[in-house]
Amino acid sequence: MSGMKNIDIINQRLSRGPLDKTGKAELARELGISSAGLESILTFYTPDRGEDLLCTGLPCRMKWQGRAIEMSVGAREESCLGYCDHAPVMRVEGKFVTVTGSGIAEIEESNHDFVKRNIEHISEYTLKGGYSYLEGEGGKIDGDGMLQRVEKSGLRGMGGAGFPVHLKWKSFRQFSNEDSYLLVNAHEGEPGTFKDRKILELAPHSVLDGAIIAAVSNGIRRIVVGIKKEYALGYASLTMAREELTERVRNSGHSIPEIEIIRAGGSYVTGEETALMEALEGRRSEPRLRPPFPTEIGLYSRPTLVHNAETLSAIASLASSGKELLKSYCLSGDVKHPGTYRVKIGTALGKLMESSGNGPMTGVKAVMPGGLSGGILPGSNEELKLDFDSVRKAGAGLGTGSVIVLSSRRCMVETAENVASFFMKESCGKCMPCRHGTKELKEILSGARQGRGSEIDLENGGEIARMMIDGSICALGQVAGRMYMDAVAHFRDEFLDHLKGVCRSESCFSGGMER
Ligand SMILES: Cc1cc2nc3c(=O)[nH]c(=O)nc-3n(C[C@H](O)[C@H](O)[C@H](O)COP(=O)(O)O)c2cc1C
Ligand code: SF4
Repeated sequence: MSGMKNIDIINQRLSRGPLDKTGKAELARELGISSAGLESILTFYTPDRGEDLLCTGLPCRMKWQGRAIEMSVGAREESCLGYCDHAPVMRVEGKFVTVTGSGIAEIEESNHDFVKRNIEHISEYTLKGGYSYLEGEGGKIDGDGMLQRVEKSGLRGMGGAGFPVHLKWKSFRQFSNEDSYLLVNAHEGEPGTFKDRKILELAPHSVLDGAIIAAVSNGIRRIVVGIKKEYALGYASLTMAREELTERVRNSGHSIPEIEIIRAGGSYVTGEETALMEALEGRRSEPRLRPPFPTEIGLYSRPTLVHNAETLSAIASLASSGKELLKSYCLSGDVKHPGTYRVKIGTALGKLMESSGNGPMTGVKAVMPGGLSGGILPGSNEELKLDFDSVRKAGAGLGTGSVIVLSSRRCMVETAENVASFFMKESCGKCMPCRHGTKELKEILSGARQGRGSEIDLENGGEIARMMIDGSICALGQVAGRMYMDAVAHFRDEFLDHLKGVCRSESCFSGGMER
């Protein structure tokens, strides 16, 4: 790995504006790929030209109601802008705004000055016990001790899959060599999920500290942070934190792994770890076939340990305090106080709602405990413990811990259609079950919403969903199928009513957003 990487070359060229035929031919030559290869990359990444954007993610869509048409003239629709707790959200003239009854208001936390005022600097971070291995002459990271600590804590990955961290470390150690990488996944993009953005912006040292601990514990000398291009504030915070850290390391006489921070374009699927590697290597951001797993062949074909930004932050806090695990849960949808709430992992849903000022859970029709990819549970389910095993037992997934609450006035057919639209739009198209399946499920659900179609269509949708669950390359196709099956199973009567042209919910939000 030397000189400028493909991703840097592409980013640099695109930042100068659209490429003409000659420009494309030159770029393809420079990258050493065919014109068709270049075209396949350029058509994957939507260039951001600073245009106005309108968020269509479920938490925003729930709040748009009839306001969208008027507001959205000329704006490009985006699947998620990452400010779900301020729904409904737009980007207008470069500023992130929430749309209120009387107009628009800038979201304070999206402002660079807000982040600058509230970011945790290294002096505050070390006071809490962070980077303790940089203290004194004997300071070092005990890799095996750390592995035991992680195992004892039961820490699971917080990027969505919930894989036990200690098992990943053990598997990685079988393949690790001196060229291995630690990849920090900072490419958050699912509607309802905004925890990583807040951690990256305001607590970047916790991510870098956790990355160093995980890297050194596993013999890794190079860390790459793959951050979503749209997270400009997170990128600025991480870069500032790395500068502070470099200064501190210089004065300490210790050494740490090399840390590179790369901004990667892409879409929701780019958050899938192998798709992120493809993006960072300057290719179309599509998930790779497995095996081999990234622990064996990952970034730049080297053994790679991948962790979500919040997982690393949790590893840092485990190393410094060793206390019980806390998790940032995102709350959005029909709640009074949406936001992120950092509480003990496994806190009951009702308790989370009450402690965040949102409870008690009355008038709740359904809850998505793990964002759009975690499935849907009917009722308020106050006793539900928000940990991976309990949520799985209840029939859903904890995912990233992004709880979307749907009140009794919500139409579940429209909700299911919105979710299906998201997966259809975000499918990368690499495998057939997902490429076709997401489109067909969206069609069936649109038909049901409009009172077209029949029970047979719903059953056919079930068959398609099963094929997606069994045959998709990555979890996107699988969770899209699972979501359809859950929604139809739990709210069958509502679906059957809709097929007859009847909706008993207070508002179908179809009217407001149809364009
Ligand atoms: C479609 C899709 C999107 C994903 N998006 C993210 C993401 O934005 N951030 C993330 O850390 N993991 C994401 N993941 C999970 C990663 O593939 C991977 O499991 C995770 O980064 C591993 O880190 P962890 O073990 O610390 O959770 C996504 C997975 C899929 C299938
Ligand atoms: S499941 Fe969907 S997103 Fe994943 S590789 Fe297949 S087409 Fe792409």
